[in-house]
Parts: sequence; structure tokens; C-alpha cells
Amino acid sequence: MMFSQSLVSLSAAALLVLPHVSAHGVVTSPAPRTTGSASEAACGTAVTKKLASDKYGPIQDAQDKADSGYDEAACSIYFCRGYKYEDNEDKLQTYAVGDVVDFKVDMEAHHTGIANVSIVDVVTQSLIGDALKDWPVYANDSLGPANWPADETSFSVTIPDVTSQCSEAGACAIQWWWYGTGNDQTYESCVDFVIG
Ligand SMILES: *[C@@H]1O[C@H](CO)[C@@H](O)[C@H](O)[C@H]1NC(C)=O
Ligand SMILES: *[C@@H]1O[C@H](CO)[C@@H](O)[C@H](O)[C@H]1NC(C)=O
Repeated sequence: MMFSQSLVSLSAAALLVLPHVSAHGVVTSPAPRTTGSASEAACGTAVTKKLASDKYGPIQDAQDKADSGYDEAACSIYFCRGYKYEDNEDKLQTYAVGDVVDFKVDMEAHHTGIANVSIVDVVTQSLIGDALKDWPVYANDSLGPANWPADETSFSVTIPDVTSQCSEAGACAIQWWWYGTGNDQTYESCVDFVIG
């Protein structure tokens, strides 16, 4: 009895405390890249474990775990969270120019920052064109749930004409990027796509 009671209060305390410790978020739809053997080979076991243990978690926390298996250049942790296309080929989306793609973000905790959504060149790890979405203020933690802008967690992007850059599988991804300016934490999710 006493044991289960303390467990209950422990989890209640954790629920109350955790959201205030750090901001957290992840794209849930379309299904984003996750970890796999290719990212583990590049980022090492400890970083991979940390990334997998909290899909919402900030990249900085995972980077702090870097062990001798962490290859900074190969992991490229600030590009798609270090996740690799090779581990996520089954999630490849096929879009046509002009398609309107609905995104859902699961925001576990708010922390004021800035955010955007861009098409990225997977090979050169550079931006293609202008941001598809841009929030000068994102996840303002002074606002209560009633005032959270719906557009931060449920929005659409229109696929621009990236036919010449994105006609091969593994060439392009859509990257959602949120930087919490107050806590210096970065959250990213990538959705691989091909123009078809
Ligand atoms: C998106 O936001 C990140 C983090 O704030 C920033 O470094 C990047 O330049 C932005 N991308 C675009 C296309 O504005
Ligand atoms: C966050 O919301 C509060 C309350 O509406 C507002 O005063 C503040 O300016 C907002 N923060 C930013 C960065 O816009």
C-alpha cells in the first residue's frame, strides 16, 4: 500500500516538474526519421541511446553524451538530429509540386523560441530555397493552453518546384527546426521525400 502510494506521488511529482525543466517537441506526422544502425555507427552508442530515450529531447542533451564512438562530422547531429536516410527509407514520402502536406507536431512542453520548416539537401546538408514556414516567435511559454496558436502544432506546407533537386530518393528532406532561445535547446525532425 505505502509502496504504491509513494510511486503514485513520485509520478505525479515528475509530471508536474518535467515540463518546466526543458522544452520538448517532435513531428509526429508525416512520420519523421528515427535512429538506426547507420546513425549509431556515426554518432556512437551513448548519443544514440540518449536520442532514442527521449524522442522529444533537445539535441544538446544528446551531444553532451558523446563517447569515443561519436564522429562529429559523420553524425552531423544538428542536421536531422543525426538520423540517416539509410535507416528510414521505408518512410520516404512521394510528393508532387504544389502538394499541400499536413504536419502535426507533438509539443510536450513549451519554451519560447523561433522555428521554421525548410527543404534541405541531404547530401550537402544545406537549405534549398526559402523557408516554407517561419515563426518569429514559437512556443511562447508565457501563454496558457487556451492561447497556444494552433498553427504551431498543426500546419501545412506547399511543396515548391524542387523537381531538379529532389527527384531522387535520399536527396531531399523537409526539416522542422525549433530553437528555444531561453534555454538554448534545439529540436529537429526530418521527413524524407522525393518528387514523383
Ligand atoms: C531556421 O531556424 C534556425 C534556428 O533558429 C536557423 O539557424 C535557420 O537559419 C533558419 N532557417 C531558415 C531557412 O530561415
Ligand atoms: C509571449 O507572450 C506574452 C504574453 O502575451 C507576451 O507579453 C510576450 O511578448 C510574448 N513573447 C514574445 C517573444 O513575443
